[in-house]
Parts: sequence; C-alpha cells; structure tokens
Amino acid sequence: MKRVAILISGGGSNMVALVKSMVGDHPARPVLVASNDPEAGGLQKAAAMGIPTAAVDHRPFGSDRVAFEAELLKPILAAKPDILCLAGFMRVLTPAFVQKFEGRMLNIHPSLLPKYPGLHTHQRALDAGDTEAGCTVHEVTPVLDDGPILGQARVPVQPGDTAETLAARVLKQEHRLYPAVLARFAAGDRTPILLN
Ligand code: GAR
Repeated sequence: MKRVAILISGGGSNMVALVKSMVGDHPARPVLVASNDPEAGGLQKAAAMGIPTAAVDHRPFGSDRVAFEAELLKPILAAKPDILCLAGFMRVLTPAFVQKFEGRMLNIHPSLLPKYPGLHTHQRALDAGDTEAGCTVHEVTPVLDDGPILGQARVPVQPGDTAETLAARVLKQEHRLYPAVLARFAAGDRTPILLN
C-alpha cells in the first residue's frame, strides 16, 4: 500500500476527491494533509475525514523558501509518504525540495499544459479565444508546471464564459482526473489518462 501526502493552500476540493478515492482495493492511502496556510479550509475537511493534518505558515519566513521548506518537510518526512500530491498548493517549491521527491510528486494544474503555466489560466484561455480548456496532472520537476504529463481532461469553452464559470467547469473535471491518475500512478503505471 502506497502512502500519500497531500499539500494544499485553499479549500481543498481536489484533496477531498483524492482522499475519497483511496478506499477499498485502491493501491494507496492518505497519511497527511499539509498546508502553508493554517486557515486553509481544506485542513478542517481533512481532519473531519480522519486524516492527520499539519500547517506551516509560510509568511514568517518571508522570501526564505529554504527555511520554510525545512519546516514543511518535518511533518511530511514524519508521515513517510511514498507519493506527494500537490492539490492547489500555491507555493513554488525549490529544486532541492522537488528533487527529494523526484518521480513521486504529482501536481494538478488548471490548464491544458504546456499552455498557460503559472496563474490566471482561465482568463488567459478566454483572452486567447480558445474553444477548449481543461486541466493537467503531471509529475513535478524543478521547472514550474512542467514535467511528464500523466493525464488531461478537456472541457469546451462556452459562449459567455467568464473565468469563474470556466474554472467551475474545469474543476469538476479535476475531481475526476486527479483520482484516476493517482490510482494508476500508485499502481506503478505512468500511461497518460485522457478524459473528455
Ligand atoms: C484547482 O483548480 C487547482 O488546479 C489549482 O488551484 C485550485 C485549487 O482548488 N491549482 C493551481 O493553480 C496550481 N498552480 P482546491 O483547493 O479546491 O482543490
């Protein structure tokens, strides 16, 4: 059984989808939900589901990412995860941190990578006049929102869409895609999953 730690910064809806999926004959189980924001709504949701939680506020560390990550690593290493899932974790990780989990850290990003790494993905898709949008799960490498793609889900852009309506349509697919990719990845299969 693979042990999964999940890093969040916000409401944690992807985290909830991942946790709920890890039941029965799933090859993984959640062992920790950690956040850089002690107020992240997802922490309470995780605790309510019986998952151990940890919070390391990044703000006292200012721009010292190395010191922040050293603190964040403590609960993570104590949980002995085999796989680390970033699920709406909004801090850029240093290459040194990423390398510690090379080949076993996943991220979900709300665009069809390689399009629109970084922030404001939905507005950028709308501004570009794209007719479809979506989300990507990929292995994390030291380059932001890069790394081998393990799955994508596509949605249509509809007339009158705003960044909010498009984000909501994509988020529904994120909740399908991330659990599907994690189940496959935890079983040792890196074949990409493509959902429509
Ligand atoms: C999700 O849409 C996720 O793809 C995005 O943040 C949201 C978190 O929602 N992640 C990023 O933008 C990472 N750069 P959630 O907290 O409800 O899962």
